[in-house]
Amino acid sequence: MADTVLLTAIRHETMPESYIRPANERPRLSEVVIEEIPLIDLGGEDRSQIIRQIGEACRSFGFFQIINHGISEESIQKMMGIAREFFHMPVEEKMKYYSDDPSKKVRLSTSFNVKKETVHNWRDYLRLHCHPLEEFVPEWPSTPSSFKDLVSTYCKEVRELGFRLLEAVSESLNLEKDYMLKVLGDQGQHMAVNFYPPCPEPELTYGLPGHTDPNTITILLQDQQVAGLQVFKEGKWIAVNPHPNALVVNIGDQIQALSNGQYKSVWHRAIVNSNKERISVASFLCPGNGAVIGPPKQLTDGSPAIYRNFTYDEYYKKFWSRNLDEEHCLELFKR
Ligand code: OGA
Ligand code: NI
Repeated sequence: MADTVLLTAIRHETMPESYIRPANERPRLSEVVIEEIPLIDLGGEDRSQIIRQIGEACRSFGFFQIINHGISEESIQKMMGIAREFFHMPVEEKMKYYSDDPSKKVRLSTSFNVKKETVHNWRDYLRLHCHPLEEFVPEWPSTPSSFKDLVSTYCKEVRELGFRLLEAVSESLNLEKDYMLKVLGDQGQHMAVNFYPPCPEPELTYGLPGHTDPNTITILLQDQQVAGLQVFKEGKWIAVNPHPNALVVNIGDQIQALSNGQYKSVWHRAIVNSNKERISVASFLCPGNGAVIGPPKQLTDGSPAIYRNFTYDEYYKKFWSRNLDEEHCLELFKR
């Protein structure tokens, strides 16, 4: 049984017991609806319109897709390609990077928090700290040989894009353009390269169960061929089918807190399928050390602050001390 916990990517012809959810927690795939989440063209001329669209998307879905986002098709293809190459390496090679300790800054792992959880998720993932790059790149995987180079390039581009998005998010809340960037300090950047192998019984398990992201903003590069991301809205799970060359953006818990609950860090999940592997690359921006998270005065005039102030350090510890699919972590910070 040990290998089923170590890596999901070890071939399973039948479903191991340890991945099977109880009947009331299963994904019920036949009830999932297909609906478009907002698609925003960042290359448009009319900035005020883009900002309006971002504001609307953050209020309603907490999720949107972007095109003409400034990250070249080449860079995206290379990132996806190297992610696939990494997970296709022999198990022995991959295991060099394995750890189940969530505090490690570079590690290959599986599921979510294998030591704590009772049911596992059908996912392996490589988790990397990415800022400052010079500090972490030396610790990143040295196989495949172009890994460090290609992933660093992608990380730099994503960081820039994340900053531009945070400027637009600030403006959409009628705050100064640099408001978020200022209060969030020197933001951390993490990456999760997710690998979801084909699964014999997709109805019984998750790649990732419903969760919200604990950070500020997430930029997800999802597999262009295989769908799997689903977003919760008004009691229903919506499948976010890949849009060519688009990136998926979602608001994390920290922006929900900073916006005093106006913008939503919504539940989302990844499901698996029986015959195709799926890869996604999630890039997370996170508040810098010492940044205090709380809403600005302008957003608490008519409606008092919903959450108490906290630091990301405190929040992150709380987040990892829970199971992924428990209540919204922000609930624990209500005033
Ligand atoms: C995540 C996440 C979704 C996906 O890594 O936090 O939500 O489609 N991933 O892999
Ligand atoms: Ni997520």
